[in-house]
Amino acid sequence: MTERAAKLFAEYFGDPTGAVVARAPGRVNLIGDHTDYNDGFVLPMIIDRHAEVVARRRSDRQVRIVAAESGERVGNTLGEPIDYSSPKWLPYVLGVVHELAQRNRIELGVDIVFRGTVPKGAGLGSSAALEVATAVALDAVFNLWLQPVETAELCRDVEHHYAGVHCGIMDQLASRLGRPNHALFIDCRSLEVRHVPLPFDGYRVVIVDSGVRRELADSRYNQRRAECEEAVTILRKVEPSLTALRDAYPALLMACEQRLLTDRLARGWHVVSENQRVLDARESLACGDLSAFGRLMNASHTSLREDFDVSHPFLDRLVEAATEVDGVLGARLTGAGFGGCIVTLVREAAVPTLEDRIRELFEDGSNGIIVVGTPEQAGITEIIT
Ligand code: GLA
Repeated sequence: MTERAAKLFAEYFGDPTGAVVARAPGRVNLIGDHTDYNDGFVLPMIIDRHAEVVARRRSDRQVRIVAAESGERVGNTLGEPIDYSSPKWLPYVLGVVHELAQRNRIELGVDIVFRGTVPKGAGLGSSAALEVATAVALDAVFNLWLQPVETAELCRDVEHHYAGVHCGIMDQLASRLGRPNHALFIDCRSLEVRHVPLPFDGYRVVIVDSGVRRELADSRYNQRRAECEEAVTILRKVEPSLTALRDAYPALLMACEQRLLTDRLARGWHVVSENQRVLDARESLACGDLSAFGRLMNASHTSLREDFDVSHPFLDRLVEAATEVDGVLGARLTGAGFGGCIVTLVREAAVPTLEDRIRELFEDGSNGIIVVGTPEQAGITEIIT
């Protein structure tokens, strides 16, 4: 890996001595969507697709970035304003550099070349993987000694400030702290994490990419977050100790039925029920009850479709088709929704049938199937000497 990375760096910037390479994985969320920014619970797992960033410090304040896949290049001087709207990846790489400069953690520029294998805009955490790989590389380049949670928070802030997406912390924490063959249970209020072993022997996690894309920033994602905050304002009138939808409970929602707009109430029901499902899902993994886990995935999809209203007709068709296949224990949309992927848990022997069934739904004969494993190693940093 190191040798390949050194070659890549040399292609654009000459002698790679002193460069550092960092990798960070994408993630698929098994259950718990739109709960992270409501201080709730999530249960993602990292996947064997990643972002790779090769970086080396400069002695001036220049920043040069190359996207290896497209050949796009951007140059900038630390602290100088720049239009972040294009190329699309710019906020996730240069945003991290600038955020660290803003926090007075770095004063010198850097040369960066990056590439990645996480499908973009598919709800598999491609932007978080790129942010985290950049932050981990810069950490090593400038000896910053960033703590993992600090790294995830930094990257989440980058997404807010430079990409305009008011996301939660799930993707960045999963990418930074996820471990192979484990899900990562995150309490998004305390930021405590627990690595939960996945008893998936004989089963596969199969992801289907619908091919439907939405721009997170332009989409209704930020709107959903604002709706949740509005619901909190109303609920606090009855329960002043409440600070996030995490603190809501069924009796409170029922008591506030008349005060809340119908859709705000529905958002509340989703968050309250989804948080409970994440806790139940963690429990079912602990006792190896995968059927129960699958039922929770199905219920999560229904709630995201009906109450949180973030599904898409094609995602619903994919989930419906998948759940009809014998051997599929559960299926749901994963990530922000409005497009992107569904995730299913399926008996290994039933994967070909699932693939056939899914293929029928893609008119051009393609299928968006991505069978994932978890990576052999989680995020790694190596120094090229
Ligand atoms: C996106 C965001 C996350 C999370 C999910 C929905 O992936 O980046 O913070 O809110 O959507 O669960």
